[in-house]
Amino acid sequence: MTTTVTNRGTAPSYLTEGRVDFPGGFVWGAATASYQIEGAVKEDGRGLSIWDTFSGTPGKVVGGDTGEVACDHYHRYAEDVELMRELGLHAYRFSVAWPRIQAEGAGPVNPAGLDFYDRLVDTLLAGGIAPYVTLYHWDLPQALEDRGGWTARETAYRFAEYAAAVHARLGDRVRSWTTLNEPWVSAFLGYGNGVHAPGRTDPGEAMRAAHHLLLAHGLGAQALRAAGAEEIMLVINSSPVVTPAQVTDPYAAASEADAAAVERIHALLTRQFLDPALRGAYPEEVLAVAERHAGLGHIHDGDLALINQRIDLVGINYYNPCVVEAGPGRPADAAWPGSEDVRFCPTDVPATAMGWPIVPTGLSRLLLRLSADYPEVGLFVTENGAAFDDVVTDGRVHDAERVAYYDGHLRAVHAAIEAGADVRGYLAWSLLDNFEWAEGYRRRFGLVYVDYATQARILKDSALWYADAIRRNGLAD
Ligand code: NOJ
Repeated sequence: MTTTVTNRGTAPSYLTEGRVDFPGGFVWGAATASYQIEGAVKEDGRGLSIWDTFSGTPGKVVGGDTGEVACDHYHRYAEDVELMRELGLHAYRFSVAWPRIQAEGAGPVNPAGLDFYDRLVDTLLAGGIAPYVTLYHWDLPQALEDRGGWTARETAYRFAEYAAAVHARLGDRVRSWTTLNEPWVSAFLGYGNGVHAPGRTDPGEAMRAAHHLLLAHGLGAQALRAAGAEEIMLVINSSPVVTPAQVTDPYAAASEADAAAVERIHALLTRQFLDPALRGAYPEEVLAVAERHAGLGHIHDGDLALINQRIDLVGINYYNPCVVEAGPGRPADAAWPGSEDVRFCPTDVPATAMGWPIVPTGLSRLLLRLSADYPEVGLFVTENGAAFDDVVTDGRVHDAERVAYYDGHLRAVHAAIEAGADVRGYLAWSLLDNFEWAEGYRRRFGLVYVDYATQARILKDSALWYADAIRRNGLAD
């Protein structure tokens, strides 16, 4: 039985309670990314990535942490796949480290680098787990950064060659391909506010990087399709943009000025990527921001047609809503060029260890908005999860807060499906505790606890809870 709790009149519900059943064929899984878990950064011909350089630079990552060893997954992948089997995952989303395949980001491929992913894919398939391959999850070869990185148009063409090379080796066994993970983060944290690698801080460079990432997506999708890829996906970090009142009441009215602030941030965060990829056009306001900071010379005739390739799915990484209202913002934040008239607001709802407010209804709201705006494409929750300060007690991790987080967000996904959103699956972030970028190892997102001193793995209570949800294809009362 399904009961709606926040339904008003004919409006869609945002959450459900009681027992819920997901549709047949719903895909349950978990996700990771190469630099966050693999370690073995100098093995088998891997070249340097921008994250090796960045994390090796004092002051960039909390505690001076790096991905040098990480979860040692490069050597322990078989054990990790065994854990996935225990949990009953249908799908595992991982990324390929470009510098393992082409140490310099161009030229002949390194067979030893491909061998690792070949072994991983075979082990997954033998365990009945579908591999979901992401080609770019932020570890750009340093050699390409030395030639301009994502501010250089050439990088997009190199990406398409790399994508084709990986497909040539794994395409006989992998059906689901993602070009990019979170291009907004690559562009605006990498080149805008410099919190991520390569640590550059120029809004014009960030706008150029965003365009070249989109071009890489288009060229990559074209190459994958030509090679026969069955399913192609673009993964974005998207948040519903809401006013402070809408954090707790999804139906709260907004003033005209606040509604305009909401739409501006939605355009900068989400439409900047989905409109070109799915419609072949930039939103007007994004073009105006690009023109102001970068001129428009980097957008060549024909680029938007190239970017607008047919794709099958949009992957959504959701963690929290973006809360804004009209009004002068903080002094120009280079991660948000174009947001000068918008105030980003704090909220006082409970938050995760990252300080991110926990708002499950935000996920329903987001899925419903995207399915209304882009009905032509299927949606997939490619990341959702939370960091909490986990403690090991007698060999167990009782992470009740994470269980509640997953329960709430899965209910939100279910409510969106009931209201008509075409959501095909859900991947927890993350399978393992791992290197949380600028936050290092202190933030733990895993279903599985990693003791970094011994590399021992412990299934947290949330992992056991998730395994149960997968088995019942739904949630208990
Ligand atoms: C999204 C990113 O794709 C992933 O790498 C990161 O660890 C999570 N967000 C949590 O911050």
